[in-house]
Amino acid sequence: MTQSTIESKNKKETNNGKVPAKETILSPRFYTTDFEAMENMDLSINEEELEAICEEFRKDYNRHHFVRNSEFEGAAEKLDPETRELFVDFLEGSCTSEFSGFLLYKELSKRIKVKNPLLAECFAHMARDEARHAGFLNKSMSDFGLQLDLGFLTASKDYTYFPPRSIFYATYLSEKIGYWRYIAIYRHLEKNPESKIFPLFNYFENWCQDENRHGDFFDALMKAQPRTVKSLSQKITIGGSTFTHPLFDYFHRFRYFLNNLPITSKLWSRFFLLAVFATMYARDLGIKKDFYSSLGLDARDYDQYVINKTNETSARVFPVVLDVYHDSFYGRLDKIVENNKVLSHIANSDGNKVSKTLMKLPKYLSNGYQLLRLYLLKPLDSKDFQPSIR
Ligand SMILES: [Fe+2]
Ligand SMILES: [Fe+2]
Repeated sequence: MTQSTIESKNKKETNNGKVPAKETILSPRFYTTDFEAMENMDLSINEEELEAICEEFRKDYNRHHFVRNSEFEGAAEKLDPETRELFVDFLEGSCTSEFSGFLLYKELSKRIKVKNPLLAECFAHMARDEARHAGFLNKSMSDFGLQLDLGFLTASKDYTYFPPRSIFYATYLSEKIGYWRYIAIYRHLEKNPESKIFPLFNYFENWCQDENRHGDFFDALMKAQPRTVKSLSQKITIGGSTFTHPLFDYFHRFRYFLNNLPITSKLWSRFFLLAVFATMYARDLGIKKDFYSSLGLDARDYDQYVINKTNETSARVFPVVLDVYHDSFYGRLDKIVENNKVLSHIANSDGNKVSKTLMKLPKYLSNGYQLLRLYLLKPLDSKDFQPSIR
């Protein structure tokens, strides 16, 4: 197949059709964690449920699902240039985040295999699923004469370190939000087949079940009381240098004591829910808005539906969830979207760096203020929270 380059305003660097992903503050991130703490995790409290989930993974329900059919032939050529560009951006972003999941799960399965075989097996099954998802998306990119250079991505991306507990929060949320995002698009296109711009969407129903199972795994993992996560050691790493002293052991003990206070879990739950929801909302109503329109979806309605559902689902495992029903909740997120529009307008305008920064400052401050008010909004206690559908 002839490799063609997509004409785009922000033209990508191409290398035999291989594109490195564009890096923005809202791009999917790659994560790494404390592997030693992970392998020493005591799962005995919830081992039965984890074993049951692992058994589900072994069945590999989607083994034969990701097989391309004849519908893909010529489908790429049917898209007009504008939709094509939006869709390729969607493919690129989705492929990168699926691949980021693969890398983290694969590394975890490898590193904890000896001491924590059950957990390692679960991670290996999830890595298998994510590799399949990323591969399937990348194959669709090749229909457009492009391919994401996954080897280059692995080597060149910065890895963000998260301690195990934060990895649980962040990955649980990204799996569950992934489930709601895919199923919402699938159901919408089922009702509006004329908006199905590419056959890839036919695969979303079974695909999102993989994400749902991955989310359930982290649900069970968190219920196994991650407070047993211990990385007590006499070592401490500051700015890349490692120091050893018996006193550091007490520092780690104190840190874990603080981490295990119920208030800490509540504060982290609010933080992660807000971070994930605000990031998605800002991106979908900003740069991705036109993509949703091309599917006949209103980005605002779609995101609010996905956020409400993910918030409801999270009440199963988080001690508190956000009050997304409060009058101010989406109003403040909309204000952030508005501010971001002005910010990108300033960034693209003429003028020197100093004056641009001064013009941007009030909008950054306003964004910070909105986020702070959202964070301080009284949360809903998960025990009292009775979602209609879970
Ligand atoms: Fe996935
Ligand atoms: Fe997943």
